[in-house]
Amino acid sequence: MPSISAHEPDRPDYAKMAKTYFHVFLRLLFSFYDCIIDFFFGLYYNDTTRKYISGVDYPFMLESASSVARKIRNKEMSSVDVVNAYIARIAQVNGILNSVVDERYKDAIEEAKQADKMIESGEWSKERLEKERPFHGVPISTKESTAIKGMRHTFGLTLRAHETAPDDAEVIKSMRRAGAIPFVLTNIPELNMWYETRCNVYGQTNNPYDTNRTVGGSSGGESSLISACGSPLGIGTDVGGSVRMPAYFCGIFGHKPTSGMINLQGLTRKAAEHTEMSLTCPGPICKHAEDLLPTMKVLMQGSKVELDLTTKVDVAKLRFFYIEDDCGDLRVSPIQSDQLNALRKAVKYVGELTGVPPKKLVPSKWKYGYKVWRYLITQEPERLAWELTNRNGTVCWWWETLRFFTGTSPYTLPSILRLIDLNVFPKENPEWVKEVLESLLGDLKRELGDNGVLLHPTHPTTAFYHNAAHLRPWNFTYTSIINALKLPATQIPMGLNSKGLPLGVQAIANPYCDRLTIAVAQELEQAFGGWVPPFKTI
Ligand SMILES: *[C@@H]1O[C@H](CO)[C@@H](O)[C@H](O)[C@H]1NC(C)=O
Ligand SMILES: *[C@@H]1O[C@H](CO)[C@@H](O)[C@H](O)[C@H]1NC(C)=O
Ligand SMILES: *[C@@H]1O[C@H](CO)[C@@H](O)[C@H](O)[C@H]1NC(C)=O
Repeated sequence: MPSISAHEPDRPDYAKMAKTYFHVFLRLLFSFYDCIIDFFFGLYYNDTTRKYISGVDYPFMLESASSVARKIRNKEMSSVDVVNAYIARIAQVNGILNSVVDERYKDAIEEAKQADKMIESGEWSKERLEKERPFHGVPISTKESTAIKGMRHTFGLTLRAHETAPDDAEVIKSMRRAGAIPFVLTNIPELNMWYETRCNVYGQTNNPYDTNRTVGGSSGGESSLISACGSPLGIGTDVGGSVRMPAYFCGIFGHKPTSGMINLQGLTRKAAEHTEMSLTCPGPICKHAEDLLPTMKVLMQGSKVELDLTTKVDVAKLRFFYIEDDCGDLRVSPIQSDQLNALRKAVKYVGELTGVPPKKLVPSKWKYGYKVWRYLITQEPERLAWELTNRNGTVCWWWETLRFFTGTSPYTLPSILRLIDLNVFPKENPEWVKEVLESLLGDLKRELGDNGVLLHPTHPTTAFYHNAAHLRPWNFTYTSIINALKLPATQIPMGLNSKGLPLGVQAIANPYCDRLTIAVAQELEQAFGGWVPPFKTI
């Protein structure tokens, strides 16, 4: 007869219970805090003061950059007409949005004339143009911190107010080789280091869906301009969500590639040799998912990495996963219900498409996302106290803080807050960070393999009122953890909520599986309609 060992009855773990109750208590407290912020900001930015942008004069402006390129190749439109139409559109919307901060209209029109001549001459067949110059004659925009020879290059620092770029950034050279015509620069936060777009050189950029709300950052000028049809395609940069988050707030697509592949020369202070180690990645921002793949192909030219962007992806054969909460990080706020519904709609859809319900993941270390990113950002080549002086000495954090609160500092509040964070709060332990990263990445790599895609909210809330982020500075963790893990991720718009503000999800995959997240973007765009214009179209 088997002996029956007497189990001790499980004694309640009081320490654990107390911790859980404390956690719930803090959650409630923070939710209360969120409500108060939303309430008072709502009173201040009362909706009667917002402005609306008008519709476009030409229907082609609603289409993708690839479609515009096709029309130019087919001689349905000239590049000069296209460039002029966008210049006129910017004149219509920029007074309200403040997205564009510098232009090279005259040169762009000259280049458009050359592009038209090339087509007229018949030297290049349509097929050859499509293959070698996929954006022939198409105007594009980029953020002010991306170097374009002779254009402003201040990074939003008043100390650099008169600086211009000596040469094009590598990504701009690649886009030019593909036939694109850079024509404007757009607004950014100071040194690109904040998730709202406001700086002392150019002021604040407004959201086309509600001008009293933020566009996010740092590629906020780009996202607001593109959603308003002021530019068909833009190149942003993403260090903690700077492509995906503003694209999300402005209802459009943005792709953050696998880190370390695309040459960083000419992006803010970055040089070519920073490419492999940096968290920063350039990536496309656009209204239609169709543009993501061709832009990625162009940006990858000259890369040391051979990225497969041509193998066709059958989305119905992919395996899907999702994370639907912050997994216990009290710093970030929980996901708003309309945003959660958008995620669940996407999850349900891919479940039906593949015939397999997506698997919910609750990685126990996901909650350390902010701490890990906070450590990694200090490992970038830039040192904030040095950059703020335009690399001429260092600023003293407490002196600048004093100056800020007496109204005499040349810097923005986010820079001051970051100086305080860097100097006052304890640093993260590099060994611990390494451990967390390895564990998180190991788990995800095993789960996702080479055909898995993870769906996760791009941000916990829809676009918030201007300046509210100062009171909740950590909500960007939903995107920055992906930079820390160096994974590719695509922001996908998922329609508007009841207030007319964009919703969205990000699709994430293992390194070098960019084509999977882009394919999912195309699928969900077809299913849910993608970008919804921030103006009436009829
Ligand atoms: C709301 O936005 C409009 C247009 O950008 C602006 O004129 C107005 O001052 C804003 N309201 C507040 C309270 O800032
Ligand atoms: C560097 O700073 C010093 C003193 O703050 C100033 O005199 C000098 O002109 C600055 N140099 C440059 C190149 O801006
Ligand atoms: C952060 O998220 C919460 C809701 O989850 C929201 O109430 C709060 O306003 C957000 N803060 C910002 C700056 O987005």
